[in-house]
Amino acid sequence: MSELYINVIEQDGSEHKIPALDGWRVMEIIRDNDLNIKAECGGCLSCATCHVYIDPVWVDKLYPPRDDELEMLDDAFNVEDNSRLSCQLIFTPELNGLKIILAPGTEV
Ligand code: FES
Repeated sequence: MSELYINVIEQDGSEHKIPALDGWRVMEIIRDNDLNIKAECGGCLSCATCHVYIDPVWVDKLYPPRDDELEMLDDAFNVEDNSRLSCQLIFTPELNGLKIILAPGTEV
């Protein structure tokens, strides 16, 4: 079985292909691979410092945000149509190769 992974572009433009685990939050995958994401509240949906942009190819493959995610995104900076909070994205094998960009302001 081939390894599952996601592609992450950090705020400084550096690109990383990192291993991903089924059932983990995308935020946890990024953090556990020592990339630069603050994720201050640890996934409680109260900080928006796990803000990411989803590569356009992948936007429609994700389940849509719930109202509470959208409300928290309202408080984030630099929000775009492809913005999501990575603590609300659960990785599954269908998302193998997912490409995301860490939003400005999420640096540790
Ligand atoms: S880690 Fe705080 S909202 Fe995602």
